[in-house]
Amino acid sequence: MAAPAPRKILVTSALPYANGSLHLGHLLEQVQTDIWVRFQKSRGHHCLYVCADDAHGTAIMLTAEKLGISPEQQIENIQQEHKRDSAGFLIGFDNFHTTHSEENRFWSETIYQHLKDNGHIATRAIIQAFDPEKQLFLADRFIKGTCPRCKTPDQYGDNCEACGATYSPTDLIDPVSAISGARPVDKESTHFFFKLPEFADMLKAWLDSGRLQPQVANKLREWTDAGLQEWDISRDAPYFGFEIPGEPGKYFYVWLDAPIGYIASFQNYCDRTGHPFDEYWQHGGDTELYHFIGKDIINFHGLFWPAMLESAGLRAPTAIYAHGFLTVNGTKMSKSRGTFIKASTYLEHLDAQYLRYYFAAKLSSSVDDIDLNLEDFVQRVNSDVVGKVVNIASRCAGFLRNSFDNTLSAGCAEQEMVESFIAAGEPIAGLYEQREFNKAIREILALADRANQYIDEKKPWALAKQEGTEQEVHDVCSVGINLFRVLMTYLKPVLPGMAEKSEAFLKCTLDWTALQAPLLDHALDTFQPLLTRIDPKQVAAMVEASKESQAAAAAPATAANKAQPAVKVADTIEFDDFAKVDLRIAAIVAAEHVEGADKLLRLTLDLGPDSGQKQVFAGIKSAYQPEQLVGKLTVMVANLAPRKMRFGVSEGMVLAAGPGGKDLFLLEPHAGATPGMQVK
Ligand code: 2FM
Ligand code: ZN
Repeated sequence: MAAPAPRKILVTSALPYANGSLHLGHLLEQVQTDIWVRFQKSRGHHCLYVCADDAHGTAIMLTAEKLGISPEQQIENIQQEHKRDSAGFLIGFDNFHTTHSEENRFWSETIYQHLKDNGHIATRAIIQAFDPEKQLFLADRFIKGTCPRCKTPDQYGDNCEACGATYSPTDLIDPVSAISGARPVDKESTHFFFKLPEFADMLKAWLDSGRLQPQVANKLREWTDAGLQEWDISRDAPYFGFEIPGEPGKYFYVWLDAPIGYIASFQNYCDRTGHPFDEYWQHGGDTELYHFIGKDIINFHGLFWPAMLESAGLRAPTAIYAHGFLTVNGTKMSKSRGTFIKASTYLEHLDAQYLRYYFAAKLSSSVDDIDLNLEDFVQRVNSDVVGKVVNIASRCAGFLRNSFDNTLSAGCAEQEMVESFIAAGEPIAGLYEQREFNKAIREILALADRANQYIDEKKPWALAKQEGTEQEVHDVCSVGINLFRVLMTYLKPVLPGMAEKSEAFLKCTLDWTALQAPLLDHALDTFQPLLTRIDPKQVAAMVEASKESQAAAAAPATAANKAQPAVKVADTIEFDDFAKVDLRIAAIVAAEHVEGADKLLRLTLDLGPDSGQKQVFAGIKSAYQPEQLVGKLTVMVANLAPRKMRFGVSEGMVLAAGPGGKDLFLLEPHAGATPGMQVK
């Protein structure tokens, strides 16, 4: 029977705002999506994953203003950062674009024109809060005041963080603009509305179509049952976005062009690669379209978006997959507890695959929240991935290398067991397909337990000491490696880095489609360590650094703290505190790149004959190539307690001056400055 034709699948995850760094909440979604996409690819399907930065809106405009840069520069900087952080988590986007693109302008205008031509756009004047100083209309979250119920001052927009009351910003006592501090005034302006109520019947059918999770469909039915409202899709200048054609001073609201960004990113991919575009967005094709999103944005994706697509004559999504929120240690991510963890901070301390595995072990098809319990995280990754999966390969590889020329047996001693592992691939695939990753992991780990049990029973290490058991040792280890190969095939969507190393070791591709029979008489490559255990100290350091980086983020951006790594800075310190700091001149005697680190260089610093050499990881890669550093001098904090980082131990801190980026200055060699010399 001919194999079924590969499916043609287009997948998206929500577009992160170009207004801040990615944190682990973003990564929960990107990891979930990426695992699903990698799984589809491994099954031989044609699956593409596109995303983009969500680049428009008032918040981005204000952030850029605060930083003294243009919005274009701001979104460019953030796009680079987002791309880097997602890549660090091994997110395999086929395309990562921006909503501030010509493709998106084209599609936003085109879709809007359809809505207008079909009579689905209304205009009317509304009254809104206006900042007379900034000459800007204020969204609720940009208005602050005293809670009308509990009288707590400094509450934002429409709800009170202290007592939970919800109200309209006009109810706030002494409201002020959070941007300028001015008292808002009411001002009228004409807005454009998408006539959502005209889609009530279509949306009811859509909600009953089974394309949404039951909880999501139920939630959205609350909206349709209550009666749909027209949706305000315009914003007045000044606004960073696309001006509505023919309507000077009126802009598309960011949430209009954000989902259109999915189309635009795919268009960009197709233009780059020559891939067909139309069949993914026209009705009647044999393609599939999936949006992975968080449960907080289901109304945009589950109501507004399908209605807009309908009006524009474009296809509806095959399904929308919403996930829950990420909590850390059982509660909302908290800046003060150090559990609001930025993607880049995580990556400075830990391998991305640990978190990918932990998320996979917890994710299901439901919208339940996912808790990252940091103790459980360490325990689970160490015990499952390192203790069980890696262990199978490392227990067998040594015997094969030392005694059997790194080649597997010609026959399979446990044909039935290996075949049962391969047969388990179908139910496991079913679980991946349904996004029941936690159940898939449970099945895979049960197989890993069986494989370890088999090796424990056969005891190749004991057999190897006996006479005449050579063949048996060879067979047992070969079976072990074959079982490992099957397991790594199933784990490849979750642990792509480890799978890549395994593919090099096994000299074969690990894909569902390549898994028919055991590897026999097959030469292996040298076994390289696949993944090491997490040291709980790495997690503690990440939490500590998250407290620090948030403190720095909250501080006003000055040239100094923009350039330096995040540090909690006190307003003043006592002289005694200062006296404790041992500042010394150090000579840079070696400098090298650090694999996997974007900002760091590994420096060997010479502190003179009394103190010897120290290794320090310094975030100065933006300014120097390693070879430029050797021979330079630097001031270093020589008595800083050693800190274990993901890449090794850092034994001090290098001081550089400058605004950052390419401008970070060290000391040039000088006859009067010798290594070890005290600076103060
Ligand atoms: O909620 C958010 O972070 C939005 N930037 C998501 C947009 S998803 C899509 F519609 F573009
Ligand atoms: Zn209150």
